[in-house]
Amino acid sequence: MTTATASPAAPGGTALLAGRTVARIGFGAMQLAELPGRPVPDRGVALSVLRRAVGQGVNHLDTAQFYGAGTANQLIRAALSPYPGDLALVSKVGAEHTADGLVPAQRPEQLRAGVEANLGTLGVEQLAAVNLRRLDAPPGIRAEGDQLVDLDSQLAELVTLRDEGKIGGIGLSNVSAEQVRQARPAGIACVQNAYSVLDRPAEPVLDVCREHGIAWVPFFPLGSAFPSWPKVTEHPAVVAAATALGAAPAQVGLAWQLAHYAGTLLIPGTASAQHLDENIAAGGLRLDAATLATLDGLAASAGSPRPASAKRSCPSTASSRNFSWPSVCGGAVSTSSAWD
Ligand SMILES: NC(=O)c1ccc[n+]([C@@H]2O[C@H](COP(=O)([O-])OP(=O)(O)OC[C@H]3O[C@@H](n4cnc5c(N)ncnc54)[C@H](OP(=O)(O)O)[C@@H]3O)[C@@H](O)[C@H]2O)c1
Repeated sequence: MTTATASPAAPGGTALLAGRTVARIGFGAMQLAELPGRPVPDRGVALSVLRRAVGQGVNHLDTAQFYGAGTANQLIRAALSPYPGDLALVSKVGAEHTADGLVPAQRPEQLRAGVEANLGTLGVEQLAAVNLRRLDAPPGIRAEGDQLVDLDSQLAELVTLRDEGKIGGIGLSNVSAEQVRQARPAGIACVQNAYSVLDRPAEPVLDVCREHGIAWVPFFPLGSAFPSWPKVTEHPAVVAAATALGAAPAQVGLAWQLAHYAGTLLIPGTASAQHLDENIAAGGLRLDAATLATLDGLAASAGSPRPASAKRSCPSTASSRNFSWPSVCGGAVSTSSAWD
C-alpha cells in the first residue's frame, strides 16, 4: 500500500524558497504564541520545540510579528540565535497589534514598518522571504477604508525592500489566482493560502503556482487549532489510511500534501514535541496511488469545509489583543463573518 522510509536529513526532501534550498517540512510558529481558547504554551516547551525542529533538519520557519504581538519572534530568537546559516526565517506583513487588537496594516509604509519590526525582534538583517498577507477575503480580519490598498502599490514597496536587501523574496498570502498572476512580474517566491486535504478552495491558486514553479506553502495544513475548520487528523478516511500504514493521521495529511505538488513546503504548527516528531517523520512516508486517489477525493465528499454557520466564541479582550490569524473579535471585523 505504501512505503515508509527513514526520515531524511532534510525532512521531506528539499525544494526552493526564494533562491534557497530548504527542507520541505518546515515549522509554523503560530502555535507557540498566545492563542484564544487554550493555555499559553510553556516558554521552556516552546523553546525546546523550536530547537528540536532545527535539530532534525527543519530549516524553514514561518512566523509573524503579530503572532502574540512579538512572542513568536522573540521565542525564535531566544531559541536559535545565533542562527544556523541555512535557516530561512519567513515572516508576513499586512496586520499589526494596537490597543484595539489585531488590525489591518496594508498601506505601503505599514508594510515597511512591519518588515522592520520583524527584523528587529528576530535580530536579523534580512528575512528570507516576507508574505504580503492580503485581507480581501476570509479567514481573518478584513481591510476597509484606507486599508483597501491596491496590490501594485504594495508590491512596489516590497520590491524596494527586496532591492534594499531587507527581504530575500516576496510572498503572497490569502490571495486569488488572479492576484498571483497580477503580481508575478514583481517576482513571487511563494504563496501561502489556507489549504489541506479537506479544504481545497485554493486549488486554482495552487495551479498557478504549479504552472510557474512558485513555492506553495499551505497554512492550516492540518486544519488549524480553530474549532470550525475541518480537522485532517479526525477524518475517517485519513484515520483509516493511517491505521493501515501504521502512521499517525497527521502524517497521512502531510504526506498527501507533499505528493500533491513538488513545490509544496509544509509549515505545520504545534506546541508538542511528540507532534513535531510525527510531522517531521511524515517526510519519510510515501503514499501509494490508491491511497492518494482516496485522499484526492476527500474534498468533494467533505462538502463545504468552511461552514458559514460555524461560530467561534470571542476571546476575552485581553487575549484578543494577542490573537493571531484568524482574528474574529478584536479589531475591524464582525464575529459572524469571519469564517464565511
Ligand atoms: N498566512 C497566514 O495568514 C497564516 C494563517 C495561519 C497560520 N499561518 C502559518 O501556518 C502555520 C500552520 O498553521 P496552524 O498552526 O494554524 O495550523 P495547522 O498546522 O493546520 O494545525 C495546528 C493544529 O494541529 C495540531 N497538531 C499539529 N501536529 C499534530 C499532529 N501530529 N497530530 C495531531 N495534531 C497536531 C496542533 O496542536 P498541538 O499544538 O497540540 O500539536 C494545532 O492544534 C502557522 O503556525 C503559521 O505559521 C499563516
